[in-house]
Amino acid sequence: MVRSVVRGIGSYVPPKVVSNEDLSALMSTSDEWIRSRSGIRERRFAEEGVYCTDLALEAVRRALGDADMEPSDLDFIIFATLSPDHHFPGNACYLQAKMGISDIGCLDVRNQCTGFLYSLAVADSFIRTGMYRNILVVGSEVHSSAMDFSDRGRDVAVLFGDGAGAVILSPSENGDRGVLYTELHADGQYARALYMDVWDISRKPFLGPEAVQSDVIWPKMDGKTVFKHAVIRLIQVFQSALKKSGVRPEDIKYVIPHQANMRINHLVAEKIGIPPEKFLHNMQKYGNTTAASLPLLLDETYRAGKLEKGDLLLLLAFGSGFTWGASLLRW
Ligand code: ACO
Repeated sequence: MVRSVVRGIGSYVPPKVVSNEDLSALMSTSDEWIRSRSGIRERRFAEEGVYCTDLALEAVRRALGDADMEPSDLDFIIFATLSPDHHFPGNACYLQAKMGISDIGCLDVRNQCTGFLYSLAVADSFIRTGMYRNILVVGSEVHSSAMDFSDRGRDVAVLFGDGAGAVILSPSENGDRGVLYTELHADGQYARALYMDVWDISRKPFLGPEAVQSDVIWPKMDGKTVFKHAVIRLIQVFQSALKKSGVRPEDIKYVIPHQANMRINHLVAEKIGIPPEKFLHNMQKYGNTTAASLPLLLDETYRAGKLEKGDLLLLLAFGSGFTWGASLLRW
């Protein structure tokens, strides 16, 4: 049986560290408020002039190095982001050009914090049907250019950071390793619980001077609704994935959860009855990097030497849309 295995993985965060104290100089907030509500201590911000695809390119170089592959070995690119370089064309096309290759197919996935899981599922399907062999899956975000650092936007601005992660998926005939199972969900009735209407095509023009003066250029979030649904949906999808794949909680070496909020992840771990140390975190250092969050954490875990061949991992995500999902991966 053909399965999709991670042949290479890499990640990158920009060097500029922004602490909670740094944000307190811009808005009425505090290290204590941010840490107690989210677990986040600092995040990375890209400098002006740096694109989302620039961060991605660094992560891709590391993933290619890990796989001992060249860009020309790739057959397809999938790019998950909510902060693309431009509204169109997609980031996968920009990245392809920066990698110095052409011709192979490029796909952008706009599924926010669940974008990497959706992308992984698409790549896995392409590989298992034999359509493509080596697929680059990237999650990358530059949030720091699109947040309101005044008191008005403080509920959102303190949570997010910039970063990128990338994996190369390839087929393996030895069917016991790789992506074993994926489950994806969405509920569009909550689309406006976390959204940004800067590009509103019903306005004519879509972004006139009045719109720019208003708050449409900033993301808006109903934090309590997001929090409540994240906990409920992550528990549901966790239990469903295990049941449908016949895996027991004790079989899982690590849960690689989306890095939005420590309190969300602790509540999920508690309700599922999984020891909290099995839930890995790096949001303390990077905040919520949306589509980059899962590959960034997976790469750090791998490079820290914590993963051995055959380890069973559960990837979990929830985000704007609402979208959510789970993927079981045997390393
Ligand atoms: N610093 C200080 N005070 C703040 C800040 C801030 N950065 N942001 C908001 N506040 C204030 C509010 O104005 C409000 O003040 P008021 O009571 O005077 O009106 C008060 O803090 C709200 O406090 P709480 O009710 O205690 O806030 P809550 O516990 O709901 O925490 C938070 C807010 C952290 C946003 C929480 O709702 C949350 O984490 N929600 C999930 C959001 C999330 O994770 N989004 C990520 C994207 S989706 C995903 O990835 C899962």
